[in-house]
Amino acid sequence: ILCNPTSAYTDQKPGTSGLRKRVTVFQRNQHYAENFIQSIISAVDPSQRQEGTLVVGGDGRFFMKDAIQLIVQIAAANGIGRLVIGQNGIMSTPAVSCVIRKIKAIGGIILTASHNPGGPSGDFGIKYNISNGGPAPEGITDKIFQISKSIQEYHICPELKVDLCAIGKQTFEVDTFKPFTVEIVDSVESYAEMLRDIFDFAALKELLSGPNHISVRLDAMHGVVGPYVKKIVCDELGSPANSAVNCVPSEDFGGHHPDPNLTYAADLVSTMKGGEYDFGAAFDGDGDRNMILGKHGFFVNPSDSVAVIGANITCIPYFQKTGVKGLARSMPTSGALDNVAKALKMQLYETPTGWKFFGNLMDAGKLSLCGEESFGTGSDHIREKDGLWAVLAWLSILASRKQSVEDVMKEHWQKFGRNFFTRYDYEEVDSDAANKMIADLQQIMFDKAFIGQTFSSGDKTYKVEKADNFEYTDPVDGSVSKGQGLRIIFSDGSRIIFRLSGTGSAGATIRLYIDSFENDPQKIYQDPQVMLAPLVDIALRISQLQEKTGRNGPTVIT
Ligand code: G1P
Ligand code: ZN
Repeated sequence: ILCNPTSAYTDQKPGTSGLRKRVTVFQRNQHYAENFIQSIISAVDPSQRQEGTLVVGGDGRFFMKDAIQLIVQIAAANGIGRLVIGQNGIMSTPAVSCVIRKIKAIGGIILTASHNPGGPSGDFGIKYNISNGGPAPEGITDKIFQISKSIQEYHICPELKVDLCAIGKQTFEVDTFKPFTVEIVDSVESYAEMLRDIFDFAALKELLSGPNHISVRLDAMHGVVGPYVKKIVCDELGSPANSAVNCVPSEDFGGHHPDPNLTYAADLVSTMKGGEYDFGAAFDGDGDRNMILGKHGFFVNPSDSVAVIGANITCIPYFQKTGVKGLARSMPTSGALDNVAKALKMQLYETPTGWKFFGNLMDAGKLSLCGEESFGTGSDHIREKDGLWAVLAWLSILASRKQSVEDVMKEHWQKFGRNFFTRYDYEEVDSDAANKMIADLQQIMFDKAFIGQTFSSGDKTYKVEKADNFEYTDPVDGSVSKGQGLRIIFSDGSRIIFRLSGTGSAGATIRLYIDSFENDPQKIYQDPQVMLAPLVDIALRISQLQEKTGRNGPTVIT
């Protein structure tokens, strides 16, 4: 074991979802990855290490294999007893969560920058998950950050090399510790086994390959979910091999953004418009996000997606067994789920952005189904959002209702009303300008005269009822998370929300979210961009976003 001196960095604060930086930051700054990995392991109680197992896997992006070798060497030198690693390092984020829970590991390290581009000039990320299978809560990420700011040395076994290809156990003698074990496991098997327990695979097989089967198009976007789709949807559920595309994980995601939205999954959108397929879906780099499309490219907004699953939850055998304990959405996600919760008399929680806030509720038995507007959908089967789970949930609904995606969605709006929703992203804005815009806006919003003020655009007028910076008190442990997003709520319930992204790797990303409810049957099929144009206009006017950032328009509209 070597004990190498190192100098601390000040910028290793984990964001919404782990430490995310440009690959070059990891490569060019001496011991940058070593420092952070040591900081994670230092945060693990020494008394847990020898008997403990950590699960390790990633989305296959550039630098992942280097990082895994470092994790192996640093874990061994710090007395971690066992690592379980996906073959070739590959394991989707939901699969890591599943494996941590299944083998009762003390935690896991996920190598991904999710939907951010990869390759030598792209992003890399390291994320720590705890024993419940979910992202480390703020108490732990803060501890890791504190350690990283004062680290002076890291421990490493530089000679120790593992073969990531061969499934099976490798054992190493490390100093006075008990033998260190590395176990390479099939990346898909445990996860597939879990899904077989959640869904009715016979019904799904009938839907995908029976006499009246529908045809699907699944785009793995060169991310980690490819092998999962191939094995589960094609091999096991019988969908033809050509229904799954871009299924070989690539270090740079084929040069694309592995982000399942209308902009970055444009290929899928245009293929779906052709009308050949009844159902389409795309996933992000690490397999936790999903986008659902119907025939002719009919788009299901993620805020609606979780609401539809909620309203049809009994189509999924898992929930018949567990019952529905509660529903949750992140604050910027539209209120579509609230309407379902109200109608079906289920408890609804509103949490800050980021999956980690759902974990506590799930562990306490208060939450079954949740979602975020950012293409994240999932349940308490694990503690991460789960892209393929969402796809099988939708297919279960189609199988049971025998309707198209579009008809399911339209009937839902007729029954529950529709929350029109849009998100504008302004990416890589100058950080100072973005911070100033938010600070100035907060000042305007916190002025007493703001409440009650009216704003008009076109033929619409809205009156401010409430304005705040969202604050959340965790109902389980009482912890308080402040400053989670500026909210302007109008008297008709419409909301304008501004927040800064916590996952970007360069500059700042400003997100503007608009949510507005409509239940007039004449209006529910209109184009969200048309319906929401007045609120967008008002949001830009109040915030002066364009003037203050020099941006004429967003980089992505959802
Ligand atoms: C974004 C999404 C958020 C999601 C997170 C991780 O975070 O907005 O909902 O949980 O990615 O996938 P943000 O960049 O907004 O902080
Ligand atoms: Zn992701």
